[in-house]
Amino acid sequence: MKIQITPTPEHAKTPAPRTLKKVAGRRVFIKSYGCQMNVYDAERMQDVLAPYGFSKTDDATTADLIILNTCHIREKADEKVFSDVGRFTKRNKKNPLIAVGGCMGQAMGRRVMQRAPSVNIVFGPQTYHRLPEFIARSGFDEGIRKRVLDTDFPALEKFDALPKQGLRGPSAFVTIQEGCDKFCTYCVVPYTRGVELSRPVADVLAEVQHLAAQGAKEVCLLGQNVNAYHGMGEHGEEWNLARLVRAVAKIDGIDFIRFTTSHPSELDNELINLFAEEQKLMPYFHLPVQSGSDRILVAMNRTHTANDYLNAIDLLRMARPDIAISGDFIVGFPGETEEDFEATLQLVRDVKYASAYSFMYSPRPNTPAAEMQDQVPLAIKQERLARLQALLTAQQTAFNASFVGKTISVLIEGKGREEGQIRGRSPHNVAVNMVGNQRLIGQQIRVNITHATASSLFGEIELEEAA
Ligand code: 5AD
Ligand code: SF4
Repeated sequence: MKIQITPTPEHAKTPAPRTLKKVAGRRVFIKSYGCQMNVYDAERMQDVLAPYGFSKTDDATTADLIILNTCHIREKADEKVFSDVGRFTKRNKKNPLIAVGGCMGQAMGRRVMQRAPSVNIVFGPQTYHRLPEFIARSGFDEGIRKRVLDTDFPALEKFDALPKQGLRGPSAFVTIQEGCDKFCTYCVVPYTRGVELSRPVADVLAEVQHLAAQGAKEVCLLGQNVNAYHGMGEHGEEWNLARLVRAVAKIDGIDFIRFTTSHPSELDNELINLFAEEQKLMPYFHLPVQSGSDRILVAMNRTHTANDYLNAIDLLRMARPDIAISGDFIVGFPGETEEDFEATLQLVRDVKYASAYSFMYSPRPNTPAAEMQDQVPLAIKQERLARLQALLTAQQTAFNASFVGKTISVLIEGKGREEGQIRGRSPHNVAVNMVGNQRLIGQQIRVNITHATASSLFGEIELEEAA
């Protein structure tokens, strides 16, 4: 019997190289979904790719490389990615390389490959420093399209391998911590980004110094639970977040410091008091509570009660009376009754939020809550979300309206939406729009607030502090 040998295609004979060539004029389009950590990661991906000739484009139809930096936190986020893969491939005539990164890549890499045959590369949030290698392995330089799936989990390794962060505006993100090990029963983060790890103090300060030297005025320290920060200091000692913030405040050029996101259980007095002591720390605190019902908080494994949360808010307000409080809420967690939901509404009435994010509970694969009995029907979730959002929007509108007629300091971050407008953010983290010259970008100016909506402020420049 004669054995038929199918000739091996030419491109499969030689393994694709592991080093990517530098070719000028390549364009990368990156779309980020989800949280600010993903925004930071997407910016760092640009830093990684720039030495290989990739420049950023906002037009996916002209890109040679399309990266979808995904989120896995709720089901809707997953579905959007699959529809975007189709949308971007269809409209691009260049046969672009498609890469899916982020938390969805990490959690369901093989499924992404199966369901979306046009995806060439899948990687996770901990390996994007190796993007050039993945692209090379796909055969990109040779015009080939092999498929690469790499979702290794090397802890903090990426930070050592990343090039220095390029500055993109007066305000910059700096990741100080990766992952989370709180294991709230609804949440995929501990599985997609790994357990909590703090970056060493020296690394964080070096990154902030580098940003300040390039002209950054504001830094936002990022992590899933930054108030649990415990990075190693120069002599092997552990630093907490308060100590890190004080050190960042000493860096010349940095005038505004923010951090996000926090967990109520690890809020120490030192950090609370810092809002009274450190003027560079902005009066805004994002402190998710998720529910106002103790029964639900236990089922969520939140390790704090509604009262613990309210006490923390009182202490924060004693330290800094004008502090803007922001939160996250989940409605329709398994077993949530009308009474539990009413407790959430009551907590919201007690706190009076300046801003908030609220979501319907979305069962996530392999999380304990997804297996719980008493899943709440969609219609009830929708109805509760609408009631909660109506209350939160009213509070947000009232908070913003309280600035009308006042003059506030605004760090100008960029061009506004309308021609001739510039935009910035108030110390309380509200977007502020005004007519003004673009040369003011990067400066702190005084703005007289004339008008407010639920989401932003409008004003007139009163005094240019630096012309
Ligand atoms: N369903 C709905 N919302 C969720 N969040 C996290 N996991 C889920 C889920 N399974 C929300 C929480 C968290 C925010 C980042 O996303 O409110 O604080
Ligand atoms: Fe998820 Fe809870 Fe960790 Fe936040 S604290 S990332 S909600 S597990």
